[in-house]
Amino acid sequence: MLIAGEKRTTIWPDAEGKGVLILDQTRLPHRIETVLLRDLDDAARAIKDMLVRGAPLIGVTAAYGVALAMRADASDAGLAKARETLRQTRPTAVNLAWALEQIGQFLSQMPEELRREAAFTFAKHLAEKDIACNSAIGDNGLAIFRDLARKREGKPLRILTHCNAGWLATVDWGTATAPIYKAQQAGIPLHVFVDETRPRNQGAFLTAFELGQQGVSHDLIVDNAGGHLMQHGEVDVCIVGADRIAANGDACNKIGTYLKALAAKDCGVPFYVAAPVSTFDFALEKGSLIPIEERVQDEVTHMSGEAASGDIVTVRVAPKTTSARNPGFDVTPARLVSGIITEKGVFAANTDALKALG
Ligand code: MRU
Repeated sequence: MLIAGEKRTTIWPDAEGKGVLILDQTRLPHRIETVLLRDLDDAARAIKDMLVRGAPLIGVTAAYGVALAMRADASDAGLAKARETLRQTRPTAVNLAWALEQIGQFLSQMPEELRREAAFTFAKHLAEKDIACNSAIGDNGLAIFRDLARKREGKPLRILTHCNAGWLATVDWGTATAPIYKAQQAGIPLHVFVDETRPRNQGAFLTAFELGQQGVSHDLIVDNAGGHLMQHGEVDVCIVGADRIAANGDACNKIGTYLKALAAKDCGVPFYVAAPVSTFDFALEKGSLIPIEERVQDEVTHMSGEAASGDIVTVRVAPKTTSARNPGFDVTPARLVSGIITEKGVFAANTDALKALG
């Protein structure tokens, strides 16, 4: 997708072979900066400190992290260490474990001396596959948006999304945003309500930024506004991404997603989850088994942004003595999900329907 009119992806191998380049998402939208990952520790830190984030991108970065690790130590022990180091970075998005399993299986079957080169080729393949999956999710979601847009008789289709399941959360296209970009390309008029997504404001910082760069009409809303807008008939459809989907269709996504799904159900607004098959965890029967990342209190008690001086600053928004809880994700029960849009088609959120993917 575009930044300042230039086509970009979120991660790419450095042309001089020094490592892997990423867009630093802790600096967006105020600064557009790339960071070079040179080794395993750089890759692990980039995921842990959320320079890259979003389930599919975390997975691809982990695969590149293994490739970087192979440059230093391509032995079985080196491979095991790389997988374990990366696995421990963030607990909820299953794409991380999925990507580590894929590249681990692939490399463990070949002689050590071939692993260095092959690991990069494989990571690149996963990155390309991610783009293709998201594009297909876009096409499958477009069919849904087309139907909904017909009822709007030329007026913009009003879409609500939470967090950033955009191209910045993947290698390109995004999951929840892919149908939005495909609809835009198809000339369907649309308008997106972007939840700010406290505490880290991925909606305000990232989704609003990328939609703006793509010229998609949108409004930023506070996290608590969605229910009100739905009650007043101002939202035609909700679409979100996912970090892990259980076998029964319970979908784990950024904290606050569940409340949007409840409001959508109450107001008769369709609620779709868009995710690649790599986001499914068929080993988990139901969503309550998904590990939920608990993040630091500072993210809640403080906020960051660009000051009038142009400096990026962090300010305290809570009393100094106030403690905070900060679960990073919640689980939307399958009964609240109208359908799961994958690269293989749109599926009902229930164990029987999803068996086709497992
Ligand atoms: O904590 P984050 O920013 O990694 O959380 C991201 C989300 O919850 C996304 O909605 C999800 O990963 C889907 S990304 C296509």
